[in-house]
Amino acid sequence: MSVNILFVCLGNICRSPAAEGAFIDLVQKQNVDGLNIDSAGTSAYHTGELADPRMREHALKRGLELTSRARQFVKEDFEKFDYILCMDQSNYTNVMKLDPEKNFKNKVYLFSHFCRFFSGKDVPDPYFGGAEGFEEVLDIVQDGSIGLLEHLKKAGLCGEK
Ligand code: 4NP
Repeated sequence: MSVNILFVCLGNICRSPAAEGAFIDLVQKQNVDGLNIDSAGTSAYHTGELADPRMREHALKRGLELTSRARQFVKEDFEKFDYILCMDQSNYTNVMKLDPEKNFKNKVYLFSHFCRFFSGKDVPDPYFGGAEGFEEVLDIVQDGSIGLLEHLKKAGLCGEK
């Protein structure tokens, strides 16, 4: 049995692919087994695109290769995934709009819930800003990835290869 983890932002080209890449890297380095990892955007603006070239360049400097293609979050994702981690409160609201009966509310979190050092709620959107914004997102998603993996291990939801 595997545990399915989905990172969600608006465009699925900056924050959520960075979180996906950071988490995959951590899971591989720690030889963790039993996790299925994906990302999606609440919008369809960038469907089919690789992550933003600026985010890919900054991520690569940390040894993270971002290879995912953007796709839109769909209702079926509520069934498929066990943890749906939203990068900001607006993404959270947009995801929850697809579940008006709140059947899946217990699967939907703000990503920042798992951060150990970052104390904000929202992972800031770097799209319209400069290089520091991309670095900040990478710091936050690497921090939250460690917290998330610790949580999953404690809950007995993943094992070692
Ligand atoms: P993301 O960033 O949600 O972190 O992927 C954005 C990407 C694209 C746009 C906004 C935010 N956009 O307006 O196209």
